[in-house]
Amino acid sequence: MRPLIAPSVLASDFANLQSEVEMLEKSQADWLHIDIMDGRFVPNISFGFPVMEAIKRYATKPMDVHLMIVEPELYIERFRTAGADIISVHVEACNHLHRTIQQIKATGAKAGVAVNPHTPVLLLEDVIADLDMVCLMSVNPGFGGQKFIENTYRKIESLKNLIISRNSQALIEVDGGVNEQNAPLLLDKGADVLVAGSFVFSSADPIQTIADLKNSSK
Ligand code: DX5
Ligand code: ZN
Repeated sequence: MRPLIAPSVLASDFANLQSEVEMLEKSQADWLHIDIMDGRFVPNISFGFPVMEAIKRYATKPMDVHLMIVEPELYIERFRTAGADIISVHVEACNHLHRTIQQIKATGAKAGVAVNPHTPVLLLEDVIADLDMVCLMSVNPGFGGQKFIENTYRKIESLKNLIISRNSQALIEVDGGVNEQNAPLLLDKGADVLVAGSFVFSSADPIQTIADLKNSSK
């Protein structure tokens, strides 16, 4: 199975957002990865509803919204209204993760949980059967363009085992520092969705780079 590719709009040229989104629409990208940062959960602020709504005006592909915010439960419905198809909250940001997952599903969106590099995937043991996706952070969230953390390979294996043992349908998404070099091994270990920001947008030909990632072989 070929992986799903979710380019991260965070690395795009915000002064030319319309043409960047049109490029993604033309490309083999499956989803648009939307990074929301609040300056609290992560030491950076990205963008919010108005920018997301602007992207949505030109996007027909699903919006994969990665919430790097504290108290995400306060904003789930608004992100859904702004066009989110998949909403991922961080396990580290949720005191009542089970409730927040149900809240996401009640909006009709797919529910994802993101885990930081230090967080064991075993923390998801009792919710994995309810999840549509787990986003494994392969960098510490907050910035694009960081170096891939090698321990991610081992985490994909643990997560895959957990998914199988609980009969879960959750997809495994890998986010941070993904490129043409690490993509084949990530897929080999069991990744289903690859997020890529700087590797796509800083390449000479983003459409071709997306196609290359899509064709990464196991
Ligand atoms: C990091 C974000 C990532 C980031 C990926 O906090 O969650 O989605 O945009 O960017 P690259 O591919 O440049 O690491
Ligand atoms: Zn992300």
